[in-house]
This record gives sequence, structure tokens and C-alpha cells, in this order.
Amino acid sequence: MSSEISFQQVGKRYPGVRGTVTETMALEGFNLEIAASEIFCIVGPTGCGKSSALNLIAGFESPTSGRVLVEGQEVHEPGMDRAVVFQHPSLFPWKTVLENVTLGLQCRGTLREEYEPRARMLIAAVGLKGFESHYPYQLSGGMQQRVQIARALIGQPKVLLMDEPFGALDYQTRLLMQRLLLDLWQEFRPTIFFITHDVGEAIFISDRVVVMTRRPGRVKLMVDVKEPKPRNYAFLSSPEFVRLHGNLLEAVQQEVESGTAAQAH
Ligand SMILES: Nc1ncnc2c1ncn2[C@@H]1O[C@H](COP(=O)(O)OP(=O)(O)O)[C@@H](O)[C@H]1O
Ligand SMILES: [Mg+2]
Repeated sequence: MSSEISFQQVGKRYPGVRGTVTETMALEGFNLEIAASEIFCIVGPTGCGKSSALNLIAGFESPTSGRVLVEGQEVHEPGMDRAVVFQHPSLFPWKTVLENVTLGLQCRGTLREEYEPRARMLIAAVGLKGFESHYPYQLSGGMQQRVQIARALIGQPKVLLMDEPFGALDYQTRLLMQRLLLDLWQEFRPTIFFITHDVGEAIFISDRVVVMTRRPGRVKLMVDVKEPKPRNYAFLSSPEFVRLHGNLLEAVQQEVESGTAAQAH
């Protein structure tokens, strides 16, 4: 079976900054296979290489060793087949919701008759019908994140890369956004590579969760979440959820604490 995303013995090393800091080994011997239309979550201590892994899939960075493949092709640069959603919305403040969502396609020369109906459909799909002409400053953080997701989906990407996308939102809004993401997945079936600090969030939305070791990041623990999709909030208090939560949290905290202990010496 061929994977949608594949890390093969990937290493990522960053040079030291202005010669004052020694180089950083962010990833080492990193292997991962992610299937098409899978929702895959990655958790781990700060600085363990999660964003580095995402940036390699996005084509923003290149591996120092090994290979990263998307649909069997080695990644060399960013592409339309992969869209990224970051923690902090990067919307153009002087453009409306509709303009922000359509800008990418507009720049690529797609005809308005083509992109505008699709943009309106996506804006409705993320729950922002009626806000097409609003500017970002008129929207809450959660609403801005919805715009980012609509903008990411407009190019019909095979892969959606999400780097702690709901990390800055309050708990209730985060739960809403998790449900929204599952609804969107149901409709468009992208492969989702999702980074989060929140173990509960990872379990609620994903098919598989990986815990990374502290730097250099490798796979420490991988669990399957067998709960069928669509999921509802009752899953959050089920015995299976609580069991997975305990196991994953323990694995993450082991890594966090071993890092703290290493620094204390
Ligand atoms: N562009 C960069 N240049 C130098 N060091 C970097 C760069 N990006 C990340 N790093 C370092 O690599 C390590 C892993 O970072 P990152 O992948 O952002 O971790 P995470 O997302 O898990 O917090 C960290 O020590 C970080 O400081
Ligand atoms: Mg990060």
C-alpha cells in the first residue's frame, strides 16, 4: 500500500545562529507513514521537532538526511496539493473575508466565475455565511481561524497541514472548531496532519496519534483511535477516551520531565 505522506529516515539539522549557538538536531531517524484521508495527530514536548516535520511536508524546509514523500513524490517545494493552517491567522487586514479566501486562486489567474461560488460555498461550510464582506478586525479569533480553513480548502488540497491551529482559542471555541474540522473532513476527505499540545484534542479528532520524544524527535508511541467518525462530545467522557488520554498524557509528560531533568543538571 502506498502512503499519502511518508518520512523515510528523516533527519533535520539547523545550523547554529550567528556562530553563538551549536547546531540543533530537530529530527533524527524519523519514520512515518500516513494513509490517504487519514486524520493524523502529533503531540510532544515543545521544541521536539513537530513544526519541523510539518514544514518538511509543506516544502518550506528540506531534510538534512532521508526523504519526505507526498503521494510517492519527493517534496522539494511548496505546492497546491498541500495547504497550511497556522496557530495565528495570517489574514490580510485590508481585505474582506471573501477576498482573503479567494486571493490565492485570483493570483493564479483562475476566473472569478469559477472561484467565487466555491469560496461562498466554503465560507458557508465553515459557518461564516453572512460574513463575506466583513474585515478580519470585525471577527473573533475563532472566526478568523474559520476563514483560514476556508482559504486552505479552496485550492482543493489533498493534504491539510495544521500547526496548533486551535491553540490560541478558548476551550469552548476549540471544541466547536474540532467538530467543524471533523464535519469538513467528512465532506472533503483530505489527509490531515495536525499538531497540538492538547492530548484530548488529538484523541477527539484523529484516527492515529503519535507522541514524539524530545529533541531530536523520533516516534515514541503511536495509538489508534478506533472510535468511528462522525464523533460527538459523548466520546470525550467514554472509558476508551479516558484510557487513551491517560496513556498518551503519561508518554508526553515522561518526555517533558526528562527534558526538565536534563536541563537541571
Ligand atoms: N529555522 C530554524 N532555525 C534554527 N533552529 C530552528 C529552526 N526551526 C526550528 N528550530 C529549532 O529546532 C527545534 C525543533 O523546533 P520545532 O520543530 O519548531 O519544534 P516544535 O514545533 O515541536 O515545538 C527547536 O530547538 C527549535 O529551536
Ligand atoms: Mg511548533
